[in-house]
Amino acid sequence: MKLPHILTMAALLAATGLAQAQVDPLHVRSWAASCAACHGTDGRAQPGMVSLAGVPKEITIQKMLDYKAGRVPAATIMHQLSKGYSDEQIVAIAGYFAAQKQ
Ligand code: HEC
Repeated sequence: MKLPHILTMAALLAATGLAQAQVDPLHVRSWAASCAACHGTDGRAQPGMVSLAGVPKEITIQKMLDYKAGRVPAATIMHQLSKGYSDEQIVAIAGYFAAQKQ
């Protein structure tokens, strides 16, 4: 029976859609702008730094939530930084970068 899994996915997708519907695009741009100092304008980084532009949002969401929860070690700043955003903000920021050209 795969049904419970499908239901979980549906609930997740619904929650993601809801979060996006509530977020003002101008707010999302300003949140994403605070990543630009290190990850480049619109997430297009200088050589040697991780680009966020065009990365599927599921990947960025997962990495940010892992940093936030302390599940993966960050070499420098991302632990502290990720804690400054709600899960809804992270979903919105990840969506913004996913939509940028690489
Ligand atoms: C002060 C510099 C700085 C800022 C600002 C910054 N980052 Fe980072 N980020 C890093 C560094 C450095 C790494 C590499 C891991 C580490 O050293 O912590 C990283 C890694 C990441 C990764 C993992 C990339 C990978 O493929 O492993 C993601 C995702 C990420 N940052 C997202 C963001 C987002 C979203 C923001 C804005 C909310 C942001 N970062 C702001 C410096 C920064």
